[in-house]
Amino acid sequence: MSIQKTLGEFIVEKQSDFPHAKGELSALLSAIKLAAKIVNREINKAGLVDITGASGVENIQGEQQQKLDMYANEIFKNALIARGEVCGIASEEEDNYVFFDNKNSRNGNYIVLMDPLDGSSNIDVNVSVGTIFSIYRRVSPLGGPVNMEDFLQVGRKQVAAGYVIYGSSTMLVFTTGHGVHGFTYDPSIGVFCLSHESLTIPKTGKIYSINEGNYIKFPLGVKKYLKYCQEKDESTNRPYTSRYIGSLVADFHRNLLKGGIYIYPQTAQAPSGKLRLLYECNPIAFLAEQAGALATDGYNPILDLKPTELHQRVPFFTGSPEMMATAHEFIAKFKDE
Ligand code: AHG
Ligand code: MN
Ligand code: MN
Repeated sequence: MSIQKTLGEFIVEKQSDFPHAKGELSALLSAIKLAAKIVNREINKAGLVDITGASGVENIQGEQQQKLDMYANEIFKNALIARGEVCGIASEEEDNYVFFDNKNSRNGNYIVLMDPLDGSSNIDVNVSVGTIFSIYRRVSPLGGPVNMEDFLQVGRKQVAAGYVIYGSSTMLVFTTGHGVHGFTYDPSIGVFCLSHESLTIPKTGKIYSINEGNYIKFPLGVKKYLKYCQEKDESTNRPYTSRYIGSLVADFHRNLLKGGIYIYPQTAQAPSGKLRLLYECNPIAFLAEQAGALATDGYNPILDLKPTELHQRVPFFTGSPEMMATAHEFIAKFKDE
């Protein structure tokens, strides 16, 4: 039986990609790895212990927090505070950014933005959920408090990003701007092992992923593109197949491996869509581009958008480059109708 490289070994080996980081990024990623193991353990017990369901509290975006949302938020936050590399975080579950005001963390060079539990309404029904994270170097002076500018950096400035998918197996997938690499968790030895090195998305695919129940509200370009996906055409392998889990991490992960397109568009009622720019779309967009996929708001690359607020939402289109090109054509053609 062959012994696979572990995530820890892989990070140490790639340390030379970060000549100025002096091991800090490795330490930060290992904090994320530890938190992921703890959250994974709790998720696996969902149904046995009282951790499923709503907490009775709403987050700042008016969404019902699930017990596991809050649990995952605390675990990731505490794992990051415990190391000195991170001086502050922003999270879907926190109203404002959090400054780690202790002697060690104040001198940390990095800030982290996260969606601690993505797809949390799927927990109660045993469907895959995830954690998404995005890492930047701070821009505020070292030693002082963090400020909003640290968190509103353009997505291109990310130094690392990734997700954990708690699925039929648990995987950690990340990029530091040198390709996308996936590690599968082996619970019997408590280690993430390299299983998917240098992931690239197929140039085209057969899967489209969208919450089609909202069809009536979609912009005309998206409606026309969906009809195109459903038409018969042998040369382009249509009709495509529809797959939608309702956990962005799981939908993106499947499309990354198999080829496909994921769309969460704007509607008249929600002109910015639903997904959050800073801790959902930016990290997924960084991974997408590193894997040869595209990620846009229907027009512009997500990574070029200048954020204006912490919990900002944005329409999100990501997937295989050829499918994205066709979707863009439809959106541009029916823009004003
Ligand atoms: P979260 O659980 O972090 O709030 O994210 C849920 C998001 C995303 O994961 C998913 O793709 C999308 O919401 C599903 O929304 P709809 O139920 O509107 O399709
Ligand atoms: Mn989410
Ligand atoms: Mn969430």
